[in-house]
Amino acid sequence: MIIAIDGPAAAGKGTLSRMIAETYGFHHLDTGLTYRATAKALLDAGLPLDDEKVAEKMAREVELAGLDRDVLSSHAIGEAASRIAVIPAVRSALVEAQRAFSLREPGTVLDGRDIGTVVCPDAPVKLYVTASPEVRARRRYDEIVGKGGVADYHRIFDEVKMRDGRDMGRADSPLRPADDAHLLDTSEMSIEAAFQAAKTIIDAVLTRQIK
Ligand code: C5P
Repeated sequence: MIIAIDGPAAAGKGTLSRMIAETYGFHHLDTGLTYRATAKALLDAGLPLDDEKVAEKMAREVELAGLDRDVLSSHAIGEAASRIAVIPAVRSALVEAQRAFSLREPGTVLDGRDIGTVVCPDAPVKLYVTASPEVRARRRYDEIVGKGGVADYHRIFDEVKMRDGRDMGRADSPLRPADDAHLLDTSEMSIEAAFQAAKTIIDAVLTRQIK
């Protein structure tokens, strides 16, 4: 059983994916972390982000077991990740590792930008989780301020729009809903309500598979 969850930055897909994986006892992979780990390795080594050969080598060295959200969460790493994510050789290296992960038993939840379209096009459940750019920027702002940080809403809003532009506009595997994805707009939805909506969709598929 593979559950593919895609959507733009800060739409709530990470939290939702973790809740789903926990509920069903499935393995979870936040594929954004694989792009972030590749970007961080390049930044730490002082290497350029646009050298295809070097970036591909770093991508092939990423260990899925060692991915740590706390170490990879900074805005600078996210930006660098979205820049190296346009390189086809980096994508194919990471997609290979993500596909291998998706086959783990008893099931997996993968979240990212191209899971339903490229990584696992045959996944029986595909969700496209989105929210308006204003709501996503507001959530990110609240998260930073909630942790005692300082944030500028307008700047975050501009960054959200810029990241969307890069992820949706790239030539290789642009962010878009798969034709058979269920759309979940969380702009006016609590995470609990989004989870219930997702659970209804997943349970219907599981029941059909058992029959
Ligand atoms: O989701 P997260 O913000 O951690 O992802 C960082 C960047 O990695 C995204 O902006 C996107 O460019 C890239 N990414 C991708 N494909 C995925 C997951 C993430 O291109 N499946």
